[in-house]
Amino acid sequence: MVMELEGELLEVGLGDRSYEIAIGRGLGSVLGAVIRDLQGSNCPVAAVVDAGLAHSQPNFLKEVLGDLPQLELAAGENTKSLDSLGQIWDFLAKNHMDRSGRLIVLGGGVTGDVGGFAASSFLRGIGFLQVPTTLLAMVDSSVGGKTGINISLGKNLVGAFHQPLGVWVDLDLLTTLPKAEFAAGMAEVIKYGMLGDFSLFQSLERGDPLSPSCPGLSAVVRSCCEAKARIVAADERETAASGGRALLNLGHTFAHAIENMAGYGDYLHGEAVSLGLVAATRLSEQLGLLEASSTERVSKLLGHYDLPIQLRTPLDVSGLLAAMGRDKKVRGGKLRFVVMEELGRAVTREDVPTELVLDAWQSVGAMS
Ligand code: GLY
Repeated sequence: MVMELEGELLEVGLGDRSYEIAIGRGLGSVLGAVIRDLQGSNCPVAAVVDAGLAHSQPNFLKEVLGDLPQLELAAGENTKSLDSLGQIWDFLAKNHMDRSGRLIVLGGGVTGDVGGFAASSFLRGIGFLQVPTTLLAMVDSSVGGKTGINISLGKNLVGAFHQPLGVWVDLDLLTTLPKAEFAAGMAEVIKYGMLGDFSLFQSLERGDPLSPSCPGLSAVVRSCCEAKARIVAADERETAASGGRALLNLGHTFAHAIENMAGYGDYLHGEAVSLGLVAATRLSEQLGLLEASSTERVSKLLGHYDLPIQLRTPLDVSGLLAAMGRDKKVRGGKLRFVVMEELGRAVTREDVPTELVLDAWQSVGAMS
């Protein structure tokens, strides 16, 4: 896709499936023009949109989508379901989507994942653009082509790798994002610091908490997107024997188990990731990899954003362990954990004793 954009463009280098991430502010008019060009070339274009945006960003939606057919999806993790997927397929069929067409997906991680999965499966795959509207989606889920839905037995257990044709990150959209949603995105930002960028971690520790309008935010989002683009380009389908794309799941095996056990939507994904980061740090400490003060240090930084570091209501450890056992990271019955050898350097490990995993769960308030 050709983008006439002043500002930042990062490439996700995947051969003939390479694409660009545009990062800036006030991108609505340029994106609107790109979409009008697509319509002008007679390919069907339609959009799925997080329903909350109609209230929070009506002008942006109008500027970008004009009179395109639009399907609104309710906000919240429960929308990442088979039911929503069916609604999108029907909507695409009704609007005569064909293989030359494009789906524009505007929203947070939930809309991006289910919209992307619909694009991967409708007519066995159509092109789509990601327009992330939450911090979490901007720094993580909109980039890299992971799409999918939840089922009752586990988070993200059904899906496909399907790369977008482009990702448009307009930081101005964050100014109407609820505070808790911004904080949830910061959990993923802090994750990038912990897994591969100690200087990012330190700068977050040193500075005032970031906010949607602060000038420093753009550099932080860019460095997360750069890290993600680099990791995805090296291990697109997470097949590396060790390390690779799996490192992006630091804290996520814990987080997915929490979301599954607490009920989807009880914790925002980023809130569950916050708890998962605490548990993964404690696990790394107990494995003798990190110094004993690390959990406190990580918890303090997460606390700057009012992110949870203890479960709000204790969950049962045996249920959490069973949910972990259904994680996508299980290979031949063995669970692969992402731990840190130092803050800023993560690795994958398969030889983690169950009693240390239990201890990590207890450190965030799970009960046996
Ligand atoms: N969010 C983890 C990944 O994209 O691999």
